[in-house]
Amino acid sequence: MRAGVLEQTTVDVMRALGLGERVAREGLVHAGINLTLGADLFRIDLQQLTGAAVTIYGQQEVMKDLYDAAQTREISVLFEATEVALHDFDGAHAFVTYSQNGRSHRVDCDFIAGCDGFHGVSRRSVPADALKIRQETYPFSWLGILVDVPPANDELIYASHDKGFALASMRSPTRSRYYMQCASDEDIGAWSDERFWDELRTRLGPVAAANITRGPSIEKSIASVRSFRAEPMRHGNLFLAGDAAHIVPPIGAKGLNLAVADVAVLADAFVEFYRNGSQRALDSYSERALARVRKADVFSRNFLEMTHRFPEGPSRAAQRVRLEQLFQSPEARREFARDYVGAPLS
Ligand code: DHB
Repeated sequence: MRAGVLEQTTVDVMRALGLGERVAREGLVHAGINLTLGADLFRIDLQQLTGAAVTIYGQQEVMKDLYDAAQTREISVLFEATEVALHDFDGAHAFVTYSQNGRSHRVDCDFIAGCDGFHGVSRRSVPADALKIRQETYPFSWLGILVDVPPANDELIYASHDKGFALASMRSPTRSRYYMQCASDEDIGAWSDERFWDELRTRLGPVAAANITRGPSIEKSIASVRSFRAEPMRHGNLFLAGDAAHIVPPIGAKGLNLAVADVAVLADAFVEFYRNGSQRALDSYSERALARVRKADVFSRNFLEMTHRFPEGPSRAAQRVRLEQLFQSPEARREFARDYVGAPLS
C-alpha cells in the first residue's frame, strides 16, 4: 500500500529541492480532518489549531517528481541491480558491490545511506548484536481499496465504530482510498466490492456515508499493522533511513513523512561534513531521527487505541471516553492536531 498524506515539512523539503511546483498545483491541501463515533461527525481544524495543514499527494507522484528531477539533473539511478552487498562500513573504506546485466560492479563510498526499505539489504548487513529491535504486531490488519470515483467527503474521515475502524481517504478529486480494520488472517477473496461498500457504509455512519460513490476497485489489498524500530540508525559509515530502520502503524500516515524527515536531516549532516569537515551532525543523526520516530509511533498507537476494536485492549467504553475528551477539550485537540500535522524539522 502506498502513502498519500504529506506533512507540511515534507512539502517544504520538496520545495527546498526545487520539486515543489507540481505538488503545489495538484496536491489537495486539507485544513482539517474528521472523526466519527456512531452518528456524530467531529471536525478537527488543523489549520486553526496549529497554523499548518496536510497535503494529499500520492507517494507515486512524489517518486515521479524525484525520478524526473534525477534525470534532469543527471543523477544516475541504477535499476535492477542484484546481489547488492555492503562492505566494511565499520572501517574507513566502505564499498557496495552489486550485479547488473550479469556484470559485477563496485562503488567505493565515504558513507552509505541505507534507504532500501524494510526488506532491503542495509539493516540485514548490520550484525544482529549491534541492533536493538523493538517490535509489535497489532491484532488486526487493514483492508484497503483504491477506486476511481470522487471521495465521499472533501476531507478525510476516521471512523471509530462498534464493528471496527474505517477510513475514508483519497488520492485526487476523482480517486478515493478507503480502509477498514479486518482480522489479521482475513481472506481477501471473501471481500467482494459489494461487501466492502456495505460494510464501509455501516462503519462510517449515516452522515459520513451519505456521499459515498460506489465503483469497481482498481486495487484491493491487506496490510498488517505493526510497529518496528531498529536502533541505532548509524553503524559506522552506514546510515539507515526510512522503513529500513522503522515502521509505524499506518494510521496518521506517518511512514513516508518520517522517511523524508530522516533523509532531510541526513542530507544536512552530509553537507555540514563536506563543508566544514565536522562530524557533529552525523553523530547526532540517529538520536534526532529516532526522537521523531518514537513520537510518531506513540501518536499512531494512541490513535489506534481510540479507533480500532482490540480483542484484548481498551474497552469500547474507554474508547468513547478518550474520543469524547478529544472532542470536548481544546487542549487535547490541539495536541492531537500538532502530532497529526507533524513537527518542523528540529
Ligand atoms: C491514508 C492513510 C492513513 O493511514 C491515514 O491516516 C490517512 C490517509 C491514505 O493512505 O490515504
